[in-house]
Amino acid sequence: MIILKLGGSLITDKSKQFAVREDVLERLAEEIKESSKEELIIVHGGGSFGHPIASKYNLQEGFKNKEQIDGVVETRRAMNELSRSVINAFHEHKLPVVAIQPSANITCKAGRIDDIDTGVIKKFLELGTIPVLFGDVVLDKELGFCILSGDQIVTFLAENFKADKVILAADVDGVYDKNPQKFDGAKLITEIKSTDDGILDTLKTRDGDVTGGIKGKIEELVLLAKKGVPSQVINAMEPGRLKKALRGEEVIGTVVR
Ligand code: IPE
Repeated sequence: MIILKLGGSLITDKSKQFAVREDVLERLAEEIKESSKEELIIVHGGGSFGHPIASKYNLQEGFKNKEQIDGVVETRRAMNELSRSVINAFHEHKLPVVAIQPSANITCKAGRIDDIDTGVIKKFLELGTIPVLFGDVVLDKELGFCILSGDQIVTFLAENFKADKVILAADVDGVYDKNPQKFDGAKLITEIKSTDDGILDTLKTRDGDVTGGIKGKIEELVLLAKKGVPSQVINAMEPGRLKKALRGEEVIGTVVR
């Protein structure tokens, strides 16, 4: 089984609120369709649908005041919208996708997944469908609510379902030693070993990203690698790379093992 995360920066334009990259979604659907027939779970990020609202209302800190409830409702609404766009695009390309709403299926405790109905996901897989989950605002036993990143869902499911691998489809070639948009000579890190904890200190979080940017993502993937599931970060903006990665062919990126 493969668990595929479609990053929010890949499927939405983060410079504009509520901007879906329809053309990208269509191409990704084609590439998934043309890849192997292995069992697949898709999880997508929030991008310009999730992060700006969550950040505006400070939702990542949990319940602090009643004004945040508008933010919870708006985030839920926005994520359902984005999920609908993904499902529509993928279904039009004949992928048997079924959306599973995390806020109705998962509860957290202090920001980490505490309770999840994996039975539902398992049954949908057995039916031959592709379950599609996403980063969401969910109930939290200690914080009232929290922002659950798609990355945390990915690592939880990968461990639980003993996935063969995780693919994180991003809009950059992988993880760099420094920000390639700001520094000349930034180098792509092609491999991260789970024993190499120091690497996390060199990665920075990004402003406006309520789930920790690339650092948050790699932290999740390192935890997963420690449990024996390898993952790779690839640039799915480049046509053909997702298809190759799904087929197990070599592709430019960062492998975490
Ligand atoms: C964020 O999920 C979800 C919300 C902000 C509601 P992710 O953290 O997985 O999203 P991306 O991939 O970084 O956009």
